[in-house]
Amino acid sequence: MFPTDDWTNVPTSILALLPCRLHLQPSHPISITRQVIQKSFPRPTYTNYNDLHPIVSVAQNFDSLGFPPDHPGRSRTDTYYINKDTVLRTHTSAHEAEIFRSNASEGYTISADVYRRDAIDRSHYPVFHQMEGARTWDRGKVPEGDIAKAVWADLEMLSKHNLQVEDPNPTHHPTRNPLQAAHHSPQEVEAIAAHLKRTLEGVVVKLFSRANKAAVAAKDSGTSAMEPLKVRWVEAYFPFTSPSWELEVYWQGEWLEILGCGVSKQELLINAGVPNQLGWAFGLGLERVAMILYSIPDIRLFWSKDERFLSQFSSTDQINTFVPFSKHPACYKDTSFWVGGSSSGAGGEATTNAPDFHENDLMEIVRNVGGDRVEDVKLTDTFVHPISGRKSLCYRINYRSLERTLWNREVNQLQREVEKQLARKLGVELR
Ligand code: DAH
Repeated sequence: MFPTDDWTNVPTSILALLPCRLHLQPSHPISITRQVIQKSFPRPTYTNYNDLHPIVSVAQNFDSLGFPPDHPGRSRTDTYYINKDTVLRTHTSAHEAEIFRSNASEGYTISADVYRRDAIDRSHYPVFHQMEGARTWDRGKVPEGDIAKAVWADLEMLSKHNLQVEDPNPTHHPTRNPLQAAHHSPQEVEAIAAHLKRTLEGVVVKLFSRANKAAVAAKDSGTSAMEPLKVRWVEAYFPFTSPSWELEVYWQGEWLEILGCGVSKQELLINAGVPNQLGWAFGLGLERVAMILYSIPDIRLFWSKDERFLSQFSSTDQINTFVPFSKHPACYKDTSFWVGGSSSGAGGEATTNAPDFHENDLMEIVRNVGGDRVEDVKLTDTFVHPISGRKSLCYRINYRSLERTLWNREVNQLQREVEKQLARKLGVELR
């Protein structure tokens, strides 16, 4: 048991999801996606960790990775805190340091559930799943201590592909994407980056050639399914890698970001007791990939216990396009309220209005009240009163169940409860 304190902000509805571990549920699309990717990272080079507990320390989730003290990811509006020192992990990277320290193999993958306070829409859910991967080389173990040579030799053994790749930027750039000059030579970084990129392109080829076949088989996506697969590398920033990139996949007319990666910060490896090792790491969103693979339109479906959903998935050898089983009517409700400033309450008593309103707090209330009956929540209007300077916000909450038609009475009740909690917990003044 963990003691609570004034940092605690995890609702029981989120704690109730901890045992679900969709990445381990047989025949669940998240688990199938995980297994397909994991095949690219076999033993003995890689050890696959799929069973790490989601409650971690702030030190694991942030400090060990070099997150600065004022990084927004640390805030209580973005992260679920069990208490001041303990969080629900926000990413699988939380385990990097301990696994580097255990030094069980040259590489590893971690698949796990991760938790974030975030917006409500069809691609965000407070729990989702990531797969982390890393590969290192040891200066003391490669022939003649020549890391670059060893990495290029390993790259030769990776399978080649004919994927279209856009990679317009230099491997490192002094300001935009620096090399860790105190620790790595340009030749080492060139080799490690090439190995990283080829490895992940190989994952994409394996995944999406299946999806393309599925889309063609389903015939409903027209000519776009026949377009050749394309990916691009984009410069990025993470506190624990440099240089860093994101990989985007061009899928049915859009560039979609599916993973972040880079050359691991040497401080991380030094602090983990393996100063002679250097290498790469990546983190990938399993829902994102599974939604593309199976054409799953709404992230809430992954949590459905409806057989009409679950029965559609069975094997890792074949990716079939998801067939939507219903589309129930949506019902939206608007709510408007004043934030900031202060005004007199009805009884003449002064009430302070949400001095620092944060949207994620509203999302959390909506989620707690409406659960999976809420499809999305959008800010539709902001207005600043010309005289008082007070700000008013209007949010539209879109109610729709994936499984049944909602009654108007039920939705009205939910909406009333949302508004009551907004006023009580956030101190906003309803209009
Ligand atoms: N943890 C990052 C995220 O959740 C993803 C990531 C980026 C993981 C770079 C990595 C990495 O291992 O090297 O956005």
